[in-house]
Amino acid sequence: MKKELVSLLICPACLPEEVQLQVSVREISRGDIEAGELLCPQCRRVYPIEGGVADLDPNAGPAGKPAANKYETPPVLSSYLWSHYADMLEDESASDAYRRWASLMEPHAGLAVDAGAAVGRFTFEMSRKCDLAVGVDNSRAFIRAARELMQRRGIAVPLKQEGNIFSESVLSLPPEWDSDRVEFIVADALALPFRAGSAASLASLNLIDKVPRPLRHLEEMNRVARAAGAQFLLSDPFSWSEEAAHEDEWLGGRTSGPFAGRGLDNVIALLAGNPARLPPRWEIRSRGEIWWKIRTHANHFEQIRSCYVKAHR
Ligand SMILES: C[S@@+](CC[C@H](N)C(=O)[O-])C[C@H]1O[C@@H](n2cnc3c(N)ncnc32)[C@H](O)[C@@H]1O
Repeated sequence: MKKELVSLLICPACLPEEVQLQVSVREISRGDIEAGELLCPQCRRVYPIEGGVADLDPNAGPAGKPAANKYETPPVLSSYLWSHYADMLEDESASDAYRRWASLMEPHAGLAVDAGAAVGRFTFEMSRKCDLAVGVDNSRAFIRAARELMQRRGIAVPLKQEGNIFSESVLSLPPEWDSDRVEFIVADALALPFRAGSAASLASLNLIDKVPRPLRHLEEMNRVARAAGAQFLLSDPFSWSEEAAHEDEWLGGRTSGPFAGRGLDNVIALLAGNPARLPPRWEIRSRGEIWWKIRTHANHFEQIRSCYVKAHR
């Protein structure tokens, strides 16, 4: 983890109190803390930094994530590496989704946060428009892969062809993508380890229907966003499921209750201040849809309509 990130980090377990973490470094290499700990002086919780990866997920036990998290498995890692970087592997089936989302973001000084960053494509895209972009995800496998790309500027991408047959492509980052402007950490999108008002731009792509408390996620993004001079891009297919969140928590896809109707309409209403859960209110600049694609194997792709809103304040 980059040393410069330390001053931005607070204890996610102590929220809503914002308690600055203290760092203890065991190994450092070219400005990156390779091994060490982040300690909360209040709750005494210790967040490890191992292999350069800082783990700030307050829900994680020392043994790591339960195997039940599909985002930790090799086939899903392979699918996401393809989904994020297929255009750079010159795959004719690639989608242009990440370039299209990136075109919606405006350049700015300071920090950008990409929640649910997976293997990092959108974080890299954001890093081209700000001083530092931080990708946050609670999958260690994804964050390790994203950091490997950041550090080594390349990664082998195993692509499932059929059954147990894989081919391997090598992905290299374009020279204009600056590794000094990007970082990836393990953290929970419902308890972000950043101070209130610290980020000038925020993204939540294809995440809100995957978390157990979607409104809590929006509240966290809102807390971390600057009160003025901030932009927020949220995009999602709104595939609500009981697997991710109890129906009472859904922000759409319901016929009755406070968030009856469509997810995008309800997120837009929340951002615009109705109900007043995300103050100060956001101005909606645009809404639309972007087709996004995930590859399972050579003959199987999922095509997903991700509906977005872009807001400023
Ligand atoms: C459907 S994927 C979308 C990934 C990426 N944003 C994109 O659009 O390509 C959802 C991502 O959110 C991550 N995720 C799920 N729950 C999370 C949470 N509570 N905190 C942080 N990341 C989470 C998963 O590990 C996965 O990388």
